[in-house]
Amino acid sequence: MTDDRLARPGAARTLRPELVGRTGELARIQEAVAGGSGLVLIDGEPGVGKTRLLEHLAERAHEAGRTVLAGSATEFERLVPFGMYVDAFTRLSDEQDAGGGRPGDLAESALRTLLSAGETSDTVQGRLDRFHTYRGVRTLLAHLAAGRGVVLALDDLHWADAASLELTEFLLRRPPAAGFLLAIACRSTMIPPAVADAVARQKPRVTRLSLSPLDEDAAAALMPSDAGPRRRRLMYRVSGGNPLFLRALLDADDHALAELADGRPGTVLALEETLLTMLRTELDRLTPAGRLAAHAAAVAGELASPVVIAEVAELAAATAAAAVDELCGQGLGTMAGPRFAFRHPLVRAAAYDTCGPSWRIAAHARVAGYVRRSGGSLALLAHHTERCAEQGDEEAARTLGDAGAAYIDSAPATAVRLFHGALRVLPERDDLVPYRGHLLTGLAKATGVMGSLTESRRILHEVIRLPHEVATVAVAFSSVISRLLGRLDEALALLSAQLPRAGRDPRLLTPLLVELAAVATLRADPGGARRHALEAIGYISETHDPALGAAAYALLALACLQDGDVAAARSHSRRAGWLMDGMPDTALLRHVELVAPLAWGETCLGRPADAARHLTRGIELATTSGGSYAMPYLLISQAHHRARTGRLTEAIDSAEHAATAAEHIRSGETLAMARSVMLLPVLWRHGVRPAMTLARQVAEASPGSPWWRAMAHVSVARVRLAAGRAEAGHAPPLPSVLSRDTEVDRLATQSINAGAGGDAGTALALSAAAVAVAGGLAYQAGTAYDARARALSVHDDLAGAVAAARIAAERFGESGAVVERSLAHQLLATLLGRMGEVALCRTEIGLAKAAYKESGADWLAGQLARVERQLAAQGPRRAGRRSAGPPELTVRERQVADLVGQGLTNREVAERLQVSQKTVETHVARIFSKFDVRSRVALSRRLTGLGDDTVTR
Ligand SMILES: Nc1ncnc2c1ncn2[C@@H]1O[C@H](COP(=O)(O)OP(=O)(O)OP(=O)(O)O)[C@@H](O)[C@H]1O
Ligand SMILES: [Mg+2]
Repeated sequence: MTDDRLARPGAARTLRPELVGRTGELARIQEAVAGGSGLVLIDGEPGVGKTRLLEHLAERAHEAGRTVLAGSATEFERLVPFGMYVDAFTRLSDEQDAGGGRPGDLAESALRTLLSAGETSDTVQGRLDRFHTYRGVRTLLAHLAAGRGVVLALDDLHWADAASLELTEFLLRRPPAAGFLLAIACRSTMIPPAVADAVARQKPRVTRLSLSPLDEDAAAALMPSDAGPRRRRLMYRVSGGNPLFLRALLDADDHALAELADGRPGTVLALEETLLTMLRTELDRLTPAGRLAAHAAAVAGELASPVVIAEVAELAAATAAAAVDELCGQGLGTMAGPRFAFRHPLVRAAAYDTCGPSWRIAAHARVAGYVRRSGGSLALLAHHTERCAEQGDEEAARTLGDAGAAYIDSAPATAVRLFHGALRVLPERDDLVPYRGHLLTGLAKATGVMGSLTESRRILHEVIRLPHEVATVAVAFSSVISRLLGRLDEALALLSAQLPRAGRDPRLLTPLLVELAAVATLRADPGGARRHALEAIGYISETHDPALGAAAYALLALACLQDGDVAAARSHSRRAGWLMDGMPDTALLRHVELVAPLAWGETCLGRPADAARHLTRGIELATTSGGSYAMPYLLISQAHHRARTGRLTEAIDSAEHAATAAEHIRSGETLAMARSVMLLPVLWRHGVRPAMTLARQVAEASPGSPWWRAMAHVSVARVRLAAGRAEAGHAPPLPSVLSRDTEVDRLATQSINAGAGGDAGTALALSAAAVAVAGGLAYQAGTAYDARARALSVHDDLAGAVAAARIAAERFGESGAVVERSLAHQLLATLLGRMGEVALCRTEIGLAKAAYKESGADWLAGQLARVERQLAAQGPRRAGRRSAGPPELTVRERQVADLVGQGLTNREVAERLQVSQKTVETHVARIFSKFDVRSRVALSRRLTGLGDDTVTR
């Protein structure tokens, strides 16, 4: 501020006095603008000057040749999704229009996407989802940044609507490009967590400007030059250096000032209150028409042109125009293009507060009428409708319902609120029952997207009693919820009851059939799953929904795998993959959960690259679109894929993430699934103790799905075996009916269990059965032959065991199962060791070791190192001596030796083998003599050295 200006008595009263003080802040802003990227956060108390500094930043950026996008949130429109971004992009678009320069096509379409937020459309493509908006906005910003650099200035973020906040968080997490600077102004006590988090992490580069009130010199520059020293002191004392407060005090008389000086408010809230009181007195000075115009402008917000003000204030056009001039003349605001804008949000707040509740409702109704007539945006229409709708107003209910439907994916919290509003005012008429059902279904979906499953289910059950078109949509969605809650019988009953009611309309039938296939798969009923999936596929061409088709094929492939029909599974899985690859995100989004079974099948069929690609796309889509009920399934499928391909750290990571997602939506079922898919990776990587802890959790709360219960049972059993607690029990109960894949698992595990208990005969029989059932399923064949090798080894048929273990390694290799194949190599090593084939044994150890290392199977690597050390300790002589073969033991002696080797006492061995303790003692004495040892420890060492492999699968 120059002395020349100071001398002008009216300078302080101008709407926008020149910036004073803030030297340090200005320098840092200059630096940030020059840097071109990162985050600038300007925070402080109300009226301290945040907006002013943000404007300054925008001006500097503009001078530096950057493209500047500026948007602000407002207190009264904070429920309009993407409000501040719509503001920013509208301004950009206006500027581009005025300047003649147009953004590229890409930018254009992104802009359209954003501006269409809230417009309803029945087509899938027309539906705005968060992901599209976010990506569109980021693309536009990247496009702009690539040229001259871009600055996005967001003012009053503390009033941002939920959708704008999410988008901001998205841009903070994934900045569009190097030349992108995000500048935010926000009240200190209301900084959104995502922004606080970015500041704490200093990512991206953060410049934080926490504004304190102006110092006395700077404040003095904002006071009228004719004010005497006493008045200046009082004004500073009362305002505390807050420039907005100072401005409001300009007209206060000395007496009022002195009164105020006695009670300078200490808290921010009190400050705001005092400010509002001060600002209200400004309104008191207006003429009645001026005051009406101020009230109308406060209600109309961004629509406040003189024409709208006239309509809302019910004033004649000429009177309204004069009133608006009065507002500008009194310094309450100014014309920003065709509309009146208050000079500060708090001035608008003061006007809004003082207009009287029933007048305000009627005024909102008049604005809503105007928006409807002039074809304005649905978001604005809903905003004003919400504030004036009365019970029994069908038109209002439909407006709110339409807006709610438009926001289910993009802003579910807003959608929930709008649906509630619509249901509240919808008239109780018979002909509106289907529409009520439609509203309730929307409400349930939005509630589900937000993660309140039980509440969503409760709402849906209300809808299911309504006429069939409404009920069918609700039933399909309700089944998804029931699945997440582990209530498969309930889902089946609901779907089966609805199927005959759905008539022959493919659009109603197909989602029900696909859901039925999903439920059947989880129930380990591949026959049912096939039937429903095939029937759904029959209708697909009539539904025009490629995602439903892909879902049906993915489930069909899974059912074929459960059945052991590998060739069919392969072809259906490929078809599902093609369909998914050819689908736009908007189409996939509606059934993004389909990626889980698709990738599961691809993983099992040895196509890990396809599975990985599909999972990445699905998870990204679900993450950014709020598909919270698909999330656990997708992450579980990802954990399975990563465990199978030997990326254990990442597998555990995905499974933990899945567990968190499951807990978030309170889905016990997917939590149990996430834990059981994590079991073996945890065992292989971290060892017995953490795996046992997890196993206990799985056993206590096992999945309700029989297919998953069988898988969980087997995983728990394997962990227990590794822990040396082979006995059954403490595992989830096996379901009565098993699919073919899980049947192989069960037989193999029981065979290994029997072998560990010394029962070679049973082990052999069970493993033979496993091999027979496995058929063409590569992974299951690996499992079966692995069990076979272990059984043959217990039976002392070492050559046979080696042959079986080699097949196991091969089949696991074919299926892409990295760790399992290495376990087969380790088994081979121990078998070859027992046979004295030292060189071959070392080769196998080498293979297993490398793969364990690469997979992060630390615990397995440690176990293997122990075997290796023992082998080395024996040296070539002893190894050579043993080439004559291990001591000849009878089958019974072998059993006893194994159990003693596992650390069991004679009494325990006797119990286990159901013989007397005396008999065991005799056996032990004979074994000691055959092995030429004198203690159990020595025997145990000899047994391990001989390669009595620890069963770790
Ligand atoms: N450093 C300054 N020099 C001159 N005028 C200032 C300065 N800081 C703020 N003002 C003026 O004070 C008034 C309030 O400032 P501003 O609107 O920037 O506050 P704010 O912190 O953004 O408030 P809110 O929290 O309500 O958004 C404005 O009229 C502004 O022009
Ligand atoms: Mg501000």
